[in-house]
Amino acid sequence: MTAHNHTPSVAFGDTSPMNGGGKNASASALPEARRDTIKPALMTTSQRFASAAGAASARQRPAPPLRGFAARRLIGVDDLSDGDIAYLLDLADHYAGYLMRAAPAPRRLAGKTQINLFFEDSTRTNMSFELAGKKLGADVIVVPVGASSVHKGESYIDTAQTLAAMGADIMIVRAKQPGLHHDLDARLNCVILNAGDGAREHPTQALLDAATIRAQFGTLNGRVIAICGDIRHSRVAGSDARLFKRLGAEVRFVGPRHLMPEDDQFTDISRAHSLAEGLDGADIVMGLRMQFERMGEDGRDAARGYFEEFGLTHETLKLARPDARIMHPGPMNRGVEIDGALADDPDRSLILRQVFYGVPIRMACLDALLTRGE
Ligand code: CP
Repeated sequence: MTAHNHTPSVAFGDTSPMNGGGKNASASALPEARRDTIKPALMTTSQRFASAAGAASARQRPAPPLRGFAARRLIGVDDLSDGDIAYLLDLADHYAGYLMRAAPAPRRLAGKTQINLFFEDSTRTNMSFELAGKKLGADVIVVPVGASSVHKGESYIDTAQTLAAMGADIMIVRAKQPGLHHDLDARLNCVILNAGDGAREHPTQALLDAATIRAQFGTLNGRVIAICGDIRHSRVAGSDARLFKRLGAEVRFVGPRHLMPEDDQFTDISRAHSLAEGLDGADIVMGLRMQFERMGEDGRDAARGYFEEFGLTHETLKLARPDARIMHPGPMNRGVEIDGALADDPDRSLILRQVFYGVPIRMACLDALLTRGE
């Protein structure tokens, strides 16, 4: 893919707008040590936020790709054309401008019905899709799966068909069942968007990660991105690697052998089994959650000694470039794969910026899939 020539319109300074404004009450509930790391970010965010909002307001709504927005569903990164990817990133920057100005976004999805159907737990993805749809004027239903007829034995397919019959235009589905998203795409008369399926794909996480890196470095082209930790069980690692490579980045997998994918998978991605090798020259160090729930009974053994060898800390980040940034899709296991002090350091961590970008990226995906950019 040709490098997308981008001047970052969304420049947060070194911290996320999500830290800003009126959060002192929650900060004061934290232990003293945590307050010390978080307070400076709170004090400086509003100034940084103001200049960022000014910059973002200059980002006009981008034109759709020349041949139109190609994707009819979003189950994996490969559903997107290069033009779709460039358009989604630009459209997300456009919507980020509204969010940072606290201005109402155009109600482009008024009259559309969006259903969030999460058979697995989620905080970021579910809530940011809800927020994204509401900001664009859609009618949004977040299905309370725990209190639904799934618990009377109704199958996932029957549940989804039932909800689609209520008039869904788009269904956002998280489930680990292999092939479910494709089955739904074949059966239902609505757009299917994958909000995470087992260890396979999480395409909107990859898009928001790319938007975050672009806002920090201007482009992914030529950047070195080290994805570290439990790659074997991670859907984020796969979607990130596919997307980042298409955007011109050098991607590396870093971690112990037992947490790497099978040898015949991701053969175009280099592998390193030490932080010293894997972080050398890295611009971005992406930590991944140790996914104990996918490891079986001996899962906790996978973490024994892990932090000592592969834990991401201020000290180990020195192995990367001096201006390197840390990312993590969340939720984090503090003290397992990442040190809390690094995760909370506004000068090195982009983690809350990733969370912020979850909303405009998902606004962009909903808008493009439901309006085709027209
Ligand atoms: N990153 C991510 O998918 O987080 P949630 O599981 O909270 O949605």
